Amino acid sequence: MEKVVLAYSGGLDTSVAIRWLGEKYGLDVVTLTIDLGANDRDLEGIREKAIKIGAVKAVVVDAKELFVRHFIFPALQAGALYEGEYPLATALARPLIAKLLVDVARDENAQAVAHGCTGKGNDQVRFDVAVAALAPDLKVIAPIREWKMSREEEIEYAVERGIPVPVTVASPYSIDQNLWGRSIECGALEDPWTEPPADVFQWTAAPHKSPDEPLYVELEFERGIPVALNGERMDSIALITALNELAGNHGVGRIDMVENRLVGIKSREVYEAPAAVTLHKAHQALEALTLSKDSIRFKAIVAQNYADLIYNGLWFSSLHQDIAAYVASSQRNVTGTIRVKLFKGICQVVGRQSEKSLYRHALATYDRGDAFDYTAAEGFIKLWGLPLKTQAQVQLLGQGETYGILPPKVEYKGKDES
Ligand code: ARG
Repeated sequence: MEKVVLAYSGGLDTSVAIRWLGEKYGLDVVTLTIDLGANDRDLEGIREKAIKIGAVKAVVVDAKELFVRHFIFPALQAGALYEGEYPLATALARPLIAKLLVDVARDENAQAVAHGCTGKGNDQVRFDVAVAALAPDLKVIAPIREWKMSREEEIEYAVERGIPVPVTVASPYSIDQNLWGRSIECGALEDPWTEPPADVFQWTAAPHKSPDEPLYVELEFERGIPVALNGERMDSIALITALNELAGNHGVGRIDMVENRLVGIKSREVYEAPAAVTLHKAHQALEALTLSKDSIRFKAIVAQNYADLIYNGLWFSSLHQDIAAYVASSQRNVTGTIRVKLFKGICQVVGRQSEKSLYRHALATYDRGDAFDYTAAEGFIKLWGLPLKTQAQVQLLGQGETYGILPPKVEYKGKDES
């Protein structure tokens, strides 16, 4: 019999998919459950459940380390925030899950892989495209996109086959979470005018209920990678986990946005990403200290393109290889420590230091010890303004339409007296 490897969360959709893949396609199902952190799921329980429902084999993989090293940190170093805000937790996880599906499919001699995405989101695109890039011979099946069952029909299908249906009332939200953040959509959030109800949030305190004393945190980076928290070196997973907790406690990391999906629609999305928001802020502040103005300007353009590429499912592309090389190179001086203040939902950078700092006190100060050359300023201004002076004489003053850049003369009392 042919085989399929199914990305299995343990939830109702993918549980039903185990049986559906057998009935519809006559495939043996191997489930793959992946631990990407920040999820207290009972992995052994999920494994057993898969077998009980009918999987021929149930694999569980801890991919936290791979996720941090190969996905989270490169995106942090790049400053990749989709549409300026979303740290891409869900989007970054997809190519890794696709890669693991392909690896297991090869090991198990499977002919297909399957995932539980609906037909309306970005995730289906990311999975399908990533698998096509890595293993064009593998068929990709998306049962939920295909079966077109309503929620009621799905539950009926499950009950008839003895597939456990959660007794708790189904959450109105669609949630995806991993170490880098939590993504919430649907339910009341579909009205962009409605403030997110309190039950949307699980990782962050409501800012008005968060502690009345601010918390100061020191984050040390080496080449753009966080290596220590409050002076204590720790491994990356522990550091991100601790920061999710600390910043979340102070209400930091809530994002509420309307974003442009790849499939052509706008959607209202809420995210909780305390560590990601804090680390991006701190990392950016360290770059402000250690990179030149030109590098910062150029890198911002790359960051936006990189965020789009990740969001749009093009992780395994050759453009990505080139961007990755640039980003890695750009980080060689991004080493130092940033002090942030977490308070009532706000993460503020309040201190920065680095051996590679380009900030020179002697050049910046207005006090004694000022080393700035004022005479050079005069000459500089003369040349800087030269093209403008020429242009204004020939093309602006008295030359007709100025499109509002030249306001009219002011009237004032006593103007005509002398
Ligand atoms: N809009 C985000 C993205 O496309 C999050 C998707 C969340 N997925 C989910 N099943 N809730 O990356």
